[in-house]
Amino acid sequence: MTLDIPNRTDDVLTSDTHLIQSFANLNALKQDGARTAIVRATGAHVFDSEGNKLIDGIGGLWCVNVGHGRDEVIDAIAEQLRTLDYYSTFYNFTHPAAAALAEKVASLAPGRLDHVYFGNSGSVANDTAVRILHHYNILRGKPEKRQILSRMGAYHGSTHLAMALTTPAYSEGWATAADGLVHHLKAPHRYREAPDMSDAEFLTVLEQDMLDAIHRIGADNICAFFAEPIQGAGGVITAPPGYHKRMREITAEHDIAYVADEVVTAWGRLGHMFSSEDVYGYVPDIITTAKGLTSGYQPLSATIISSEIHDVISGPEAMFLHGMTYSGHPAAAAAGLANIDILERERIPERVQTTGKVFEAALRGLEDMTMVGEVRGSHFMMGIEFVKNKDTREEFEPDAMIGTRVAQACQARGLIARALGNILILSPTLIMDEAMIADIEGILRESIGKVSEELGV
Ligand SMILES: Cc1ncc(COP(=O)(O)O)c(C=O)c1O
Repeated sequence: MTLDIPNRTDDVLTSDTHLIQSFANLNALKQDGARTAIVRATGAHVFDSEGNKLIDGIGGLWCVNVGHGRDEVIDAIAEQLRTLDYYSTFYNFTHPAAAALAEKVASLAPGRLDHVYFGNSGSVANDTAVRILHHYNILRGKPEKRQILSRMGAYHGSTHLAMALTTPAYSEGWATAADGLVHHLKAPHRYREAPDMSDAEFLTVLEQDMLDAIHRIGADNICAFFAEPIQGAGGVITAPPGYHKRMREITAEHDIAYVADEVVTAWGRLGHMFSSEDVYGYVPDIITTAKGLTSGYQPLSATIISSEIHDVISGPEAMFLHGMTYSGHPAAAAAGLANIDILERERIPERVQTTGKVFEAALRGLEDMTMVGEVRGSHFMMGIEFVKNKDTREEFEPDAMIGTRVAQACQARGLIARALGNILILSPTLIMDEAMIADIEGILRESIGKVSEELGV
């Protein structure tokens, strides 16, 4: 049986008028040619409805880690659906796929992060972490310990609570829930926040900012510090060396749970299954993850909690009043197991330790271009910030749409990249070889050069 899904540009875009896109200017999308319909994908490439083959420079949405079209994952999903299409993990029910995936994830997670709650998005994983911590503190007799430290530049998702954790720029013109519950510390963004300081000096400022917030709010009122190892959707912001370890020490001293949002940074993107311990040298109390957990083949997230927290929430007085119909969905769990099997069998994280560094170096080479202010990030998680003036770091006006202009120039040359204001984000599949990396670099150089020439910068 074939499904009647439109494949030609006209047909796709006609039916698309009923679809509400995410993080988009819906009015601008009404114009002809504003949308790109992706109809097929294989390996490191996707095809649009005009038949163009494009390098997937953003890995779907920082998620297709093992590449598109892997039969092992697709077959595992189909086989699981034939055996057990759906059953819940509510009440006393469990099923083999969810149980096996939880065991696998716990075995790979650092420290005593041994217990896993599945959701179906990174946003839900973060909401779940907050709900669990609130419940945990109530059970410990500390109901006031419920406020949260997050950071400017953070992105933690789009449900009402996850959006409140996110940097305020993402909810401009929208209401946010959890008013007064979330406090945003300084972004660890030296290029913009502290251009004249050394990393060490800036680290001291960031430490003091956290200590001041704890002093002001009171440690007895704070349950968690949320932090991505690298801030992704905030502009690929890497913190000064030693930052996470130091923040972890401070939070531990004040009985504040450290929640590492590894929605993007896990599953090989930075060369390891998880990056908090292996890259940054700290073990958090909770890790939230999604995306590369299934390489995007199924919607699945995980909130991985420490044994210490689990001991309390599974104690005699506790009742776990949290649940989503699709938590640990059999097909998603099967996709997760097959995906991790590929990551392990093909040693993808280990390969990324080499290829990711080649990618990073290739992109950093673009810093010799006049319009490129800073190239930052790590391995296959990179951002390029464009500036009007390299010496003064003067920014382009937002309506210059520099990121979008460069992204469009890239797409016309066969590369999908993501625009974010004056920044271009690259987070491709993890199966890039050196030839593909050279292609990406060539397209970027040509596209940036073209926009730079048009602007006379
Ligand atoms: C670091 C981080 N956390 C959370 C999320 C939210 O995940 P989702 O879009 O699956 O809800 C994202 C999404 O990009 C993310 O980058």
